Amino acid sequence: MGDPGGYFAGRGDRADRRPVPPLPAVVPSLLAADFVRLGEEVAAAEEAGARWFQLDVMDGHFVPNLSFGVPVLESLRPATDSFLDAHLMITAPHTLLEAFAGAGADLITIHAEASEDPRRDLETIRGLGCQCGFAVSPPTPASAAVDALEIADLVLVMTVNPGFGGQRFMPKTLAKIGELREAASRRGVSPPVFQVDGGIDSDTAAVAARAGAQSYVAGSSVFRGAGGAGPSFRRLQSTVEEARHWEG
Ligand code: DX5
Repeated sequence: MGDPGGYFAGRGDRADRRPVPPLPAVVPSLLAADFVRLGEEVAAAEEAGARWFQLDVMDGHFVPNLSFGVPVLESLRPATDSFLDAHLMITAPHTLLEAFAGAGADLITIHAEASEDPRRDLETIRGLGCQCGFAVSPPTPASAAVDALEIADLVLVMTVNPGFGGQRFMPKTLAKIGELREAASRRGVSPPVFQVDGGIDSDTAAVAARAGAQSYVAGSSVFRGAGGAGPSFRRLQSTVEEARHWEG
């Protein structure tokens, strides 16, 4: 793929791999934020304790929606020290891994349904100095992620069909967390971080916590919750911390 403007030049390898923030973590999804005040929205959530944000990148091809791309990450990066997670809901994600890493992503997640060569793409993401994530959409069985367990730092179990915020949580998807945790144990590999995304609010987050989720992507319930991003984040984060105690 050409790079006429040299946009991607020198944006490759980064030596650092910032660690995933402490768990359990609520991860505000910027898809639901007010883009006119994006920096303020991030700051309000950080004021309440958020240290991990997700950018939902959509190409209008892999999913029937178009959101935003590298330029938004480029703008946001210097404005925050938080962990930035690029969830690539795009076809042929390998074409943009270097660009997202160069723009400052700390974690890049590709979809099982979109990657032509998951191992290659996950290794590329690591080589670029980022944590690597592997996502499975609701119709995709957990078995599609078993081989990725040996390399993925995070597995994203989508609890809605990718493409839009504000959808209804799909509880049946949660069984994949247990299946993949067992698969990791059978293979003798340390389990990845398990992330859920879609329809996450105080009720569904508690259900996901009991299923073994550790990272909770939440858009509407944070940025459109009562009192705005700060109080909404605080409520959700305390829910997932309390729920963790149930795990015993
Ligand atoms: C779906 C998106 C959404 C978003 C969160 O493709 O990935 O899940 O992050 O949306 P809410 O929290 O509004 O369901």
